[in-house]
Amino acid sequence: MNQFLEVALDAAREAGAVLRAEFDRPKTISYKGEVDLVTESDRHSEAIIVSKLRSHFPEHAIRAEEGSPRASGNEQFCWHIDPLDGTTNFAHSYPCFAVSIGLLERGEPVVAVVLNPVANELFTAVRGEGAYLNGQRIHVSPIQKLATSLVSTGFPTHQRANNRNIYYYWEFTMRSHGVRRDGSAALDLCSVACGRFDGFWEFGLNSWDTAAGMLIVKEAGGMVSDLEGQLYHPGDRSILATNGKIHSEMQEVASRIASRTESLSLQPNS
Ligand code: IPD
Ligand code: CA
Ligand code: CA
Repeated sequence: MNQFLEVALDAAREAGAVLRAEFDRPKTISYKGEVDLVTESDRHSEAIIVSKLRSHFPEHAIRAEEGSPRASGNEQFCWHIDPLDGTTNFAHSYPCFAVSIGLLERGEPVVAVVLNPVANELFTAVRGEGAYLNGQRIHVSPIQKLATSLVSTGFPTHQRANNRNIYYYWEFTMRSHGVRRDGSAALDLCSVACGRFDGFWEFGLNSWDTAAGMLIVKEAGGMVSDLEGQLYHPGDRSILATNGKIHSEMQEVASRIASRTESLSLQPNS
């Protein structure tokens, strides 16, 4: 088995077991922003993952959400880690969250692990080798049209008043079977990969949210770009991930919404 995948799997399993145990206990919550929560468990999970990756690959760079200092060394390999994607869900005991670990080689995703420790669902991918859920090969859905699709999105916890996604949410709701908002971008991407969702879009995600999930979507036969249809790199301003068949339709709808809503004010009435 790919040596990088093996270590990432070990790290995700160990961190996932800790999150699963801590999920049933009272949570210690603090705030990074107005509604940007962080728990002791985020930090606990990150410490486990970072220490495992460092001990095996001391020369690799690391970008982890809770700010573990980066390993020195070249940037040929860089791990992008979200130790707990879905912190708000976790903090409210809503069982939808994941550990997400993605490895980029010169900026390209090559290894991906996303683990939902409550559902016991482990999504994995290695570039060129397909995507898997608990060891079984997965594929995107065959749905051909947005009108018969189930899609998903998310909203950032920072700079909420500047986010125009509510317009997209409304319009995609009217044009599809529905829009889900599950609160974990990594799991949203995995749901596209295994055909539960036909598409997913979001603004303002960080590289640790998408590095693993985007590879899992691609290896499951899906398509990933930004909302303008350009090449997507982890951390870009927007992401659109679909089963491929509804990609251009979603992208066209998004560009019409963008031009129509550019000048609308987002400030709520006080
Ligand atoms: C968040 C989740 C959520 C997305 C937010 C992210 P976090 O990550 O992925 O689904 O809508 O934009 O910040 O803070 O729970 O790791
Ligand atoms: Ca996240
Ligand atoms: Ca997180």
